[in-house]
Amino acid sequence: MKESVYLIGGRAVGKSSIGVRLARKLGYRFFDTDTLITDECGCSVAEIVARDGWQSFREHEKHVLRQLGLQKSCVVATGGGAILHREQWLELKKLGIVIWLKADTAILRERISGDQNSMGQRPSLTGKDVCQELEDVLTERNPLYRETADFIIDSGKMTVDEIVQAIEQIC
Ligand code: S3P
Repeated sequence: MKESVYLIGGRAVGKSSIGVRLARKLGYRFFDTDTLITDECGCSVAEIVARDGWQSFREHEKHVLRQLGLQKSCVVATGGGAILHREQWLELKKLGIVIWLKADTAILRERISGDQNSMGQRPSLTGKDVCQELEDVLTERNPLYRETADFIIDSGKMTVDEIVQAIEQIC
């Protein structure tokens, strides 16, 4: 078994809730890149972006991914755009299994619009409405998720427990 498990995928696919549950089952520590960033900055993603812009958020994200490369035996839920840091993934892929949690855009759109967390963690990436931009963002990023993942789980219609079980079998 490789050391760590990294969960990648679009906004609201469930990386954090699945990651917490999986870490508990595997007896691993759990990290969430957005939480590490907001702890480091002392404010929400929306506040970082409003104050310093996306470029600054991405710098924090890159730093956090670099630090996570030093941790062993952990489950990491990454932000939807963490996949953009290509050099970091070359390193992380040596340290663990990368799992792409995939779901239909319609399902993700519905979750984002009904999720209170979206206000602080998911400001618009393009200036468009967060739900409307989703399709374009995923079209651009899906090849990166695919290229990076060791395994893909089509998680849209599965429960959290079913997904955790599927990942346990992979590990
Ligand atoms: C982002 C996704 C968010 C958060 C930030 C940027 C993205 O995380 O990192 O708003 O670029 O897709 P979730 O994937 O947990 O929503």
